[in-house]
Amino acid sequence: RTGASEARILDGEATARAIRDEVAAGCALLEFERGITPGLTVVLVGADAASSIYVKNKNRAATAVGIRSTVLRLPESTTEAELLQVVTRLNRDPATHGILVQLPLPTGIRERRVIEAIDPTKDVDGFHPVNVGRLVAGLPGFVPCTPAGIVTLLRHHQIPLAGRHAVVVGRSNIVGKPMAFLLLREDCTVTICHSKTPDLAAFCSGADLLVAAVGRAGLLRTAHIKPGAVVVDVGIHRVTDEAVCRDYYGDDPVRLAAVRERGSTLVGDVHPREARIRAGWLSPVPGGVGPLTIAQLLANTLTAAAGSPS
Ligand code: GUN
Repeated sequence: RTGASEARILDGEATARAIRDEVAAGCALLEFERGITPGLTVVLVGADAASSIYVKNKNRAATAVGIRSTVLRLPESTTEAELLQVVTRLNRDPATHGILVQLPLPTGIRERRVIEAIDPTKDVDGFHPVNVGRLVAGLPGFVPCTPAGIVTLLRHHQIPLAGRHAVVVGRSNIVGKPMAFLLLREDCTVTICHSKTPDLAAFCSGADLLVAAVGRAGLLRTAHIKPGAVVVDVGIHRVTDEAVCRDYYGDDPVRLAAVRERGSTLVGDVHPREARIRAGWLSPVPGGVGPLTIAQLLANTLTAAAGSPS
């Protein structure tokens, strides 16, 4: 990349579409060859507004590719014992190939207990310790949707991974940790940084591939980005202040109009204005990583129904 050009866009929407098309074809084939309709049950406990929207989107996306999707809505007052009973019933239900218990759960229910109750062969979130262990050991199993989607995003854009130095910023069980092990599986040299890493820039500026999943708006800036690096931004934060929007997006009329007319725009963990003129590739927010998570969930559900995780 020449110094004057802007970063190329890692197109999450196009990649998600490619995943969905492949899953739709796979569902049709599984139905035709073995008479199996993949079944996904999403369990939503309580009425968390964001969770309700996520679950609706998951349900709609699943139905669109030929997955039989069921949303089980349980009241906020559901006890841990009751939820464990529901999970046990779904473990035994032959029409349910994938089980997803939407997080966060109401206070009083221990997430760990619930995740560990899910049959690992139906754990399409890849959160069960058996699947975590399988990923670390390099064995086939279910992998969390966001990091798995990111690997597909990089492949879709023919980004070479073997031998590259990847720095993952963030160590959550949902993104950072599984991302690091997936990149290791792709033969990257992997460094994991996090909120307590001193001199983050010293590590990040050496990265050929930088994955930002630390949950801090605009944290990664020019000093963190090696010229020409591939930058994947997993963060999502709402920007409501016009001056803050200008810092992130300069005079971008679309972003400014969003703040003025709709009250907000979004920004990731990467400073977009600085990254655009420094990185070689950049995933935008929105339209980068976001669309991949649900698409990968559909892929995991098909895999669960076909009975062959990789
Ligand atoms: N809440 C936010 N993201 C996720 C996810 O990927 N899976 C589940 N089950 N809950 C979530």
